[in-house]
Amino acid sequence: MKMIKIKTNQRIFITGKTQSGKTNFAKYLIRQLKNYIIYDIKREYSSFGIVVHTKKEFLISLKRGYSQIVIQPNDLSKENFNEICQIIFQKLTNIMLIVDEVHKFCTKSSIPYYLNAIVTVGASLGIGFMGISQRCANVHNDILASSEYIISFYQFLDNDINKLKEFLGTEAEKLKDIEYYYFLMFSIFDKKIKFYKPIKKI
Ligand SMILES: Nc1ncnc2c1ncn2[C@@H]1O[C@H](COP(=O)(O)OP(=O)(O)O)[C@@H](O)[C@H]1O
Ligand SMILES: [Mg+2]
Repeated sequence: MKMIKIKTNQRIFITGKTQSGKTNFAKYLIRQLKNYIIYDIKREYSSFGIVVHTKKEFLISLKRGYSQIVIQPNDLSKENFNEICQIIFQKLTNIMLIVDEVHKFCTKSSIPYYLNAIVTVGASLGIGFMGISQRCANVHNDILASSEYIISFYQFLDNDINKLKEFLGTEAEKLKDIEYYYFLMFSIFDKKIKFYKPIKKI
């Protein structure tokens, strides 16, 4: 049995220090999905679908029926990101939006309008969300609060550990002591926190 089996309309948040294994784990999860859009500012997911760089190219790829699309935006602004989220929210269903480095687009207290729409009401429209960020303390609370799964790799900053403690309790303290590529997973389905050994490198 798989340790985690995700569905297209669920919400997942992955955190942990830079280089701790987040993107590799995200790739492992994405392989379970058929329909997704990856917002990939660091250009690490090129092999996961058709690669587009602008809103116009994104719209064309949708029109052509692609369901595995990697957006490597030329325009890194929050406005461009929000416009992509708007298209997904208003036009699509049965799809997951995956955003690596999601802290580039939100703060503790602000979140693009249509990202918030996807995170808070997307599930009932068949839209899922996977957010990945090294600084969970800097990510909007709606993202953590709405997640069915929270996954954390090694953490070392008190701010980040304290943020995770709000959602996971004192077990989050142990994140200071785990090795790179080891991780913790919490799911709202069994409300249990478990620690895991590294998965294979993708
Ligand atoms: N489970 C693993 N086993 C072996 N190498 C890994 C594993 N996870 C990640 N790596 C490698 O470590 C480096 C950092 O991983 P990455 O997933 O990009 O980290 P992050 O996204 O947290 O910065 C990459 O070179 C990656 O291939
Ligand atoms: Mg990464």
